[in-house]
Amino acid sequence: MYSVTFEHVNKRFLGANDQALDDVTIQIEEGEFVTILGSSGCGKTTLIKMVNRLLEVDSGKITVMGEDIRSQDPVSLRRRIGYVIQQVGLFPHMTIEENIKVLPKLLGWDRGKMDAGVDQMLSLVALDPEEFKKRYPAQLSGGQQQRVGLARALVTNPGLMLLDEPFGAIDAINRESLQNELKRIHAGSRATYLFVTHDIREALKLGSKVLIMNQGRVIQYDSPRQVLDNPADDFVCSLLATLRNGRDTLTDGEGI
Ligand SMILES: Nc1ncnc2c1ncn2[C@@H]1O[C@H](COP(=O)(O)OP(=O)(O)O)[C@@H](O)[C@H]1O
Ligand SMILES: [Mg+2]
Repeated sequence: MYSVTFEHVNKRFLGANDQALDDVTIQIEEGEFVTILGSSGCGKTTLIKMVNRLLEVDSGKITVMGEDIRSQDPVSLRRRIGYVIQQVGLFPHMTIEENIKVLPKLLGWDRGKMDAGVDQMLSLVALDPEEFKKRYPAQLSGGQQQRVGLARALVTNPGLMLLDEPFGAIDAINRESLQNELKRIHAGSRATYLFVTHDIREALKLGSKVLIMNQGRVIQYDSPRQVLDNPADDFVCSLLATLRNGRDTLTDGEGI
């Protein structure tokens, strides 16, 4: 079964001249680690937010685990899908432990299961539970907060994770270690990840498939190897050229 499908999905924001998503059709297999790559404004965040219905399609259809998401209650849909964003969004007045327990509480987990979940998830993202769980978000570095954001999204073991530039604000060293943690966590699960980045190197390193977008369209959806060996068009070639030139990120408004 496919984890996520898009069928001729279109989205244009009110007052915008161009489509944010232009006839997007993709089929994502279960267990895939899909990295979504493209320059700023090409529609990556829009694509992700349609999957958990933070945004609605103008036309077309999206399915999650074979079901049309329009026939599902958005709140219960979101509870089944992990969501991590660059801004992390931890509740500042709650401890790390309380932050991780928000969704388990809503789902009615018993105390023992929640406590075990917190310890297990913090260990998974390489934070010592005893040292960190009673702290508040402001008492953590940016990279540590990102790890907690991941732990919080993973604690209910969702079969689908949406990650929107989760390491965007992290320095190179912490980023490298978070990438490795995430790759390891994914490998130990059967979950499907949709991971947005504008870092070409990150996309090729993490993805089992890379989805390349430009101006609201899907340009290529292939393994990293295929992207490198058979770039779909001049746009993908120019992306790879920037990589060879020793640069690995797309900057805002880059005209490629
Ligand atoms: N809420 C919104 N209202 C109007 N336009 C928007 C809104 N959100 C995004 N857009 C526009 O849609 C396009 C795609 O945006 P986005 O999906 O955020 O791009 P990306 O995540 O790839 O940087 C951009 O042109 C952006 O300005
Ligand atoms: Mg974005």
